[in-house]
Amino acid sequence: MIRFDEVSKHYDTHTALRKVTFSVEKGEMVFITGPSGSGKSTLLKLIYMAERPDEGNILVSEWDTNTVRESQIPLLRRNIGVVFQDFRLLGNRDIFENVALSLRIRGVEEKELKARVFEALKSVNLRHKTENYPDTLSGGEQQRVAIARAIVSDPLIILADEPTGNVDPDASTGIIRTFKDINAKGATIVIATHNRELFRNTGRRLLKLDFGNYTGEELG
Ligand SMILES: Nc1ncnc2c1ncn2[C@@H]1O[C@H](COP(=O)(O)OP(=O)(O)OP(=O)(O)O)[C@@H](O)[C@H]1O
Ligand SMILES: [Mg+2]
Repeated sequence: MIRFDEVSKHYDTHTALRKVTFSVEKGEMVFITGPSGSGKSTLLKLIYMAERPDEGNILVSEWDTNTVRESQIPLLRRNIGVVFQDFRLLGNRDIFENVALSLRIRGVEEKELKARVFEALKSVNLRHKTENYPDTLSGGEQQRVAIARAIVSDPLIILADEPTGNVDPDASTGIIRTFKDINAKGATIVIATHNRELFRNTGRRLLKLDFGNYTGEELG
């Protein structure tokens, strides 16, 4: 589903990723881990093609960074739900509309749209906050809205960047459970985190980065 082949990414003189090779199978849930600055967010940005590799090749579903046209990238992104490290909620729309947006773009009819938005918000325990605006929510609540928004359209791939960075341990457990449920329904999930508690005893693969180098994998 996702394959990196000798991928390097440089920012000016700084190398954020150095000849990274790994793959994630369809239907897997894996963790990318490593200290702050090791390249986790960069790796996720390369998967949804917000950044392009300087060397090497990346394959995401049927899209290949060496051959993909700029005009195909929106289509690729429709298949990927992203939980950004900084949430990126729209401040001028309420929580319902933030989560509904991707369904509206697809032209999903109102009754189905409502059912899906409520279901997604329920799975992150925020069904009661639909009419609030993002700036009235706590950091952890905003993070959970970002998760609801990423899962609402049933994407093929979910990328989550430090998705429990702002929540307490109980909410963290709930979030991982939500990802597991979605994964059980077939989504491929990649979670970047430096929080070891998140993957402890999950039995899932951990792909490890250190200063931009891929340093191998182990099981959680
Ligand atoms: N747009 C950019 N311009 C210049 N340098 C960048 C840029 N984005 C990332 N970097 C650098 O690349 C390295 C990897 O950054 P990245 O954000 O991928 O790390 P991370 O593992 O996600 O860290 P954290 O755990 O703190 O989120 C860092 O040294 C960072 O300073
Ligand atoms: Mg990061």
